[in-house]
Amino acid sequence: MKDHLVIFDTTLRDGEQSPGASMTKEEKVRIAKQLEKLQVDVIEAGFPAASEGDFESVHAVASVIKDSTICGLARAVENDIVKAGEAIKPANSGRIHTFIATSPIHMEKKLRMSPDEVVERAVWAVKKARNYTDNVEFSPEDAGRSEPDFLCRVIEAVIDAGATTINIPDTVGYNVPHQFGRLFKELLERIPNSDKAIFSAHCHNDLGLAAANSLAAVRNGARQIECTINGLGERAGNTALEEVVMAVKTRQDIFDVDTQINTKEILAASRLVSNITGFPVQPNKAIVGANAFSHESGIHQDGVLKHRETYEIMRAEDVGWSTNKMVMGKHSGRNAFKTRLEELGMEFETEQELNEAFIRFKELADRKHEIYDEDLQSLVTDNNIQRVENESFRLVSMKVSTETGESPKAEVTLWMNGEEASALSTGSGVVDATFKAIESLVESGSALQLYTVSNVTNGTDSLGETSVRLEKGGRIVNGQGSDTDIVTASAKAYINALNKLQDDSDKAHPQAPV
Ligand code: KIV
Ligand code: ZN
Repeated sequence: MKDHLVIFDTTLRDGEQSPGASMTKEEKVRIAKQLEKLQVDVIEAGFPAASEGDFESVHAVASVIKDSTICGLARAVENDIVKAGEAIKPANSGRIHTFIATSPIHMEKKLRMSPDEVVERAVWAVKKARNYTDNVEFSPEDAGRSEPDFLCRVIEAVIDAGATTINIPDTVGYNVPHQFGRLFKELLERIPNSDKAIFSAHCHNDLGLAAANSLAAVRNGARQIECTINGLGERAGNTALEEVVMAVKTRQDIFDVDTQINTKEILAASRLVSNITGFPVQPNKAIVGANAFSHESGIHQDGVLKHRETYEIMRAEDVGWSTNKMVMGKHSGRNAFKTRLEELGMEFETEQELNEAFIRFKELADRKHEIYDEDLQSLVTDNNIQRVENESFRLVSMKVSTETGESPKAEVTLWMNGEEASALSTGSGVVDATFKAIESLVESGSALQLYTVSNVTNGTDSLGETSVRLEKGGRIVNGQGSDTDIVTASAKAYINALNKLQDDSDKAHPQAPV
């Protein structure tokens, strides 16, 4: 009988800390529903004390998710713990995750607290959290650079105070596998009450070692991994859920644990997170990259055809890949559309939303005869993008022209300030001209940091998905758009980012000094 490995997904919290990846409440709920289908054990839904919006999001996720435990993050301070406790209240099963830094550099330079004060505060925070739930996780932040003796002292004290999970974060991605594994072995052996808690690994990918470090921890006694879909997260990101889950599943010969993840839902989760955040998945990304299962070279193909295990260690269909199947066309009805979307995990809150999406589907089917699941996903995400709350700008129409020897031109009409406004601009290409026309209307003063275009499916009639990253005064936002016409998709993405820039609600970063 194998031990259960708890999969703790923090896409909605640590993933969201990625610059520009912030998500609306509705987007978080959609991702949470997909995580529930994936059967993750714990969903860290956010940091409720960050802002009113973050509180509402965690509360909303806790209200709709039934099968996964919902966790809220809290620094070891009163207000954070109260907010986290309130936010997880509706959950069938709720957890509070409280943390304080324990490395010499963090204690001295960030917290300006002595080690004794840190232990005292950690114990206080765990006891306080236990007033709301008996499922309390504690993290010694920057454990990867903390002194093992001090870690043993803090952890023993917080377990005595009621912590049921002890998470060991390699906050800055500094550790290497043999060392991180050894740390778990040492902690589990030396801490007298270590058997009263589950030990967890939380790794960052600064050296590209997050998955390897997490797995080394599991080999040395960790029974929870904290991870994100696509490895989303600050800097180089967090441990990728799909990588550690598939490593454990594929190498059952060396791991004495197993997960309950429904791996067939991995790809859908990856696409959803990528669509919503606008962070594309690189083609050679393990498990979920477009090339992850393509056996291009003749020798490999020949091998796979003769006997698939010659070159394949996993089956593409086990993580949700299927050969592109035409699922719908222009004659498909509203019921078929709704049913297929439900199968893909997409539901509408109101009839009006469904009707709007169906109209967009019909428009798409007129331009593109074969509609695949990927198209439906993109179309619904785009439909949601159009409904950003408190939208300030909306695309009404646009006209572009390009001719050899002439400057490309764009004329754009936006709905803004309660009326229509138009501008004409030239640029080095039609996308450049379009962006310039929009900026001349909005006058945001933002800087374009990134612009990407990708095909949703193959073929020149495919939907194009575009991402635009804007920066203003240190604030970074990502906008997304999709359309069969990539210039229109680009305009939508740019306007979506501008709408996000308008929302200047302040959000606290959990790891900033209190
Ligand atoms: O990386 C980290 O240390 C964290 C903590 C808040 C657990 O994300
Ligand atoms: Zn982290």
